[in-house]
Amino acid sequence: MCGIVGYVGSKKATPILIDGLLCLEYRGYDSAGIATIEKDVIKVMKDKGRVNNLYNLDGINDLEGTVGIAHTRWATHGKPSKENSHPHLDNSNTFAVVHNGIIENYSELKDFLSLKRYNFISQTDTEVIPNLIHYHYTNGPESVIEDNYERFLTAVKSAVQDLKGSYAVEVISPLCPDEVIVVRKDSPLVIGKGTDGNYIASDIPAILKYTKDFYLLDDNEFAVVTADKVKFYDNSLTEHNKAIKNIEWDANAAGKDGYEDYMLKEIFEQPTAIRETIGSRFRLGEKCSFDDIEISKEYLSKVNKIYIVACGTAMHAGLTGKTLIEKLCKIPTVVDIASEFRYRDPLIDENTLCIYISQSGETADTIAALKLAKSKGAKTLAISNVIGSSITREADYSIYTHAGPEIAVASTKAYTSQVVLIAILAMYFAEILGTCDEACIEELKADLIDLPSKVEQILDNTDVIKTFANKVYTEKDMFFLGRGTDYNVALEGSLKLKEITYIHSEANAAGELKHGPIALIENGVTVIGIITDEKLVEKSISNIQEVVTRGAKTLIITNQILPNSHFDYVINIPKTPPLISPILSVVPMQLLSYYIAKAKGLDVDKPRNLAKSVTVE
Ligand code: M6R
Repeated sequence: MCGIVGYVGSKKATPILIDGLLCLEYRGYDSAGIATIEKDVIKVMKDKGRVNNLYNLDGINDLEGTVGIAHTRWATHGKPSKENSHPHLDNSNTFAVVHNGIIENYSELKDFLSLKRYNFISQTDTEVIPNLIHYHYTNGPESVIEDNYERFLTAVKSAVQDLKGSYAVEVISPLCPDEVIVVRKDSPLVIGKGTDGNYIASDIPAILKYTKDFYLLDDNEFAVVTADKVKFYDNSLTEHNKAIKNIEWDANAAGKDGYEDYMLKEIFEQPTAIRETIGSRFRLGEKCSFDDIEISKEYLSKVNKIYIVACGTAMHAGLTGKTLIEKLCKIPTVVDIASEFRYRDPLIDENTLCIYISQSGETADTIAALKLAKSKGAKTLAISNVIGSSITREADYSIYTHAGPEIAVASTKAYTSQVVLIAILAMYFAEILGTCDEACIEELKADLIDLPSKVEQILDNTDVIKTFANKVYTEKDMFFLGRGTDYNVALEGSLKLKEITYIHSEANAAGELKHGPIALIENGVTVIGIITDEKLVEKSISNIQEVVTRGAKTLIITNQILPNSHFDYVINIPKTPPLISPILSVVPMQLLSYYIAKAKGLDVDKPRNLAKSVTVE
């Protein structure tokens, strides 16, 4: 939540900063701002609204500075307004700060600073930071340091030591006009090493067009970024070296590539994302390979329980993961929502394996849930799409989906890649443990290899989905029904619909309908049924028939030949085993939400109230 960009170099900073913010708008989009150093002063330009509004601000084109910081906001403390937008200045206009995260003790700090006669213009937690820096710079022990640069860095360190909570912070000051100081704790921040300067961002895609060489800042680590150098310091300001990581993502992958929206592009990228995620993890006739994690048979044989912990769409991928692991590895598996898991004292010991799924790798609740399991002695395994993300740095083992950057707030290709990767992981565990018939695993491998072309078939036939979307886009409620893995994917279909169309929807296990939810079914209501398991066809049809009888309009997504029935629309998808069928059946649901949102004229990529990475708890 909230996006940060920074630049120090030989070029004009403003275009780079705004361009970076535009790439990061998915992290927050209720206000935006930049600050640059112009000769001896800091110039701040900011306002509420989308990043594009910055272009309309008077004087924005006159900024010539080559050092600057920028921010796009997802409001937590204080409503979206010009005053609450970042960057924030201290009272003397000497320090400008952008901040991502939450300062939990900000009101205490505000009281302290108010007593020292500091005034506050905004309702944000962030505004305490520049004022604290100023306080330490002028009053702290550092106020006697003669060298401005050392004094500035020491003042930032002292201010940060006063903060409780999470933060990624950039600070500039005309006192040291050729540098940006950055520090992070529990909020992402990367530094890109360029040829004509150095770049800073909360997410790699924002600066991917300038460099593929990144430093991934650690928690409680400071960096002083100048045009040709980046110096790193620990929290007692001892300098150390840091290795560069080369990120393979293609810069074009972070653009729209001719598609109207990122979401549509990402839906159509799924065949590639699945292929790349399978990568060289297995070949037919050979065992799965996870050299990157090296889990031993000795350890795995002792694992008597697996938790899969995640949020939102990633949690839905985990539900299918549970079915796969239990079926192939015979290890009881519990799926939990990260924000629930962390507060309910889960039963965990050294024989528990905890798997955390997170596209961004930065979701605050998922990270906290991971730390909890580690503290109880369990081994942790992270599944993420972002190399070097916080979650992968915390976990004992990390494996990656290869979906490429996912920009749209509504997750699509990350979900299908996550399910693919868990399927491969489950096969790998089963091969180590010998818990599943080899022929059965071989068949599943062949089915996984076939998936990309089957997704392509679905993407080639979108007419029924569009027609249905145009019929139902004005509705207020929709229901998704399924059994087994079809229920898991119904949950994901329902979430997607809510997120981007604002239509209220529920997903129900089809067999549960008659225990209550059927009371909501009335004439004309839309019900979407998913039927992909041969063994459950009859039961599922009977349940859906119950809503047809009560006047529901039905759309069925199926890979089965259904007996003559009274369904209004049927979308046929290619056959694949129920264990992995969500990877196919989710695609028509993603498209349905997309086309409904378009028919309603909504901003598909930036749905209201949401942000891509939920880095607050
Ligand atoms: O980055 P993560 O996978 O940890 O994000 C988890 C959820 O916030 C995310 O899946 C959210 O539900 C998406 N907006 C769903 O489309």
